[in-house]
Amino acid sequence: MTNDDFQSWVQAHQALIESALQDCLPQPGVAPPRLHGAMRYAVLGGGKRVRPLLAYASGELSGADLGRVTRAACAVELIHAYSLVHDDLPCMDDDVLRRGKPTCHVEYDEATALLVGDSLQSLAFEMLAHPGLSGDSGVQLTMIRLLAEASGSRGMAGGQAIDLESTGKTLELPELESMHIRKTGELIRASVVLGARCGEIDEAGLGQLDRFAKSIGLAFQVVDDVLDAESSTATLGKTAGKDSKDNKPTYVSLLGARQAKEMARELYDFALSALAGFGERADRLRQMADFVVQRQF
Ligand code: IPE
Ligand code: IPE
Ligand code: MG
Ligand code: MG
Ligand code: MG
Repeated sequence: MTNDDFQSWVQAHQALIESALQDCLPQPGVAPPRLHGAMRYAVLGGGKRVRPLLAYASGELSGADLGRVTRAACAVELIHAYSLVHDDLPCMDDDVLRRGKPTCHVEYDEATALLVGDSLQSLAFEMLAHPGLSGDSGVQLTMIRLLAEASGSRGMAGGQAIDLESTGKTLELPELESMHIRKTGELIRASVVLGARCGEIDEAGLGQLDRFAKSIGLAFQVVDDVLDAESSTATLGKTAGKDSKDNKPTYVSLLGARQAKEMARELYDFALSALAGFGERADRLRQMADFVVQRQF
């Protein structure tokens, strides 16, 4: 598969998820219109859609139906969008720019942003509980539980709690790793596994994908830390240099940018080694791993 082919695959699947998200979000005219307008503002027309793309890539590996993967991909992207809206609130990172636009609480207000997060989370589970998601209700329950664990207090929300507690402190590498795995890694891991679960895959295959996803999920946040330190606000569409300004413990603050990049590279190599048993079927995931570590924003 060539790079051109990958670019067109990315664009086609970004368009697919955009249109599915448009359809699953309540129209702004539906009551209460301000909340629904704010939900659409927070989700639509921005973002790289990395988590949906990972779900599509692993869905291709397991021969999954595209409509099913699209529902699962919407679910993870809705949780992700909710996590960003809350992450930007004044009581958390206090950011004013996201995806090149004013953050949700700046454009609307804090109470609305809080409710946007709540509502996006509920909508995510509504998507995953849809009768058309799987032919096997046992598998579907497993998928719902997986997303709940990945986003709750042992996953993303828990990682965010550790992030807030750690601000202004120096963490040891294992503590930093554990925080990053939770706040970002778990949802990326869920994206890969949910995509695969939409098709046919055995336990051994799921284990290999899970190993891949754990590494690439952590690599994603390591790269986010590097970009915060090295890129610009214009390129990122969010305020650059915010981590050091806020005294956040990151891979860059602990190891320096060069070693953080080496760490991302090692995680990438480890992720690819987990895919070795799949042969060409995993090429899309390999390209996605490349995308995660090479991205410029
Ligand atoms: C940013 O995620 C927040 C992290 C978890 C690091 P993304 O870099 O995927 O943000 P969007 O969705 O492309 O805006
Ligand atoms: C955010 O990490 C992780 C989640 C939103 C769960 P960051 O705080 O580093 O994300 P950005 O840099 O604001 O996108
Ligand atoms: Mg944060
Ligand atoms: Mg933040
Ligand atoms: Mg960041």
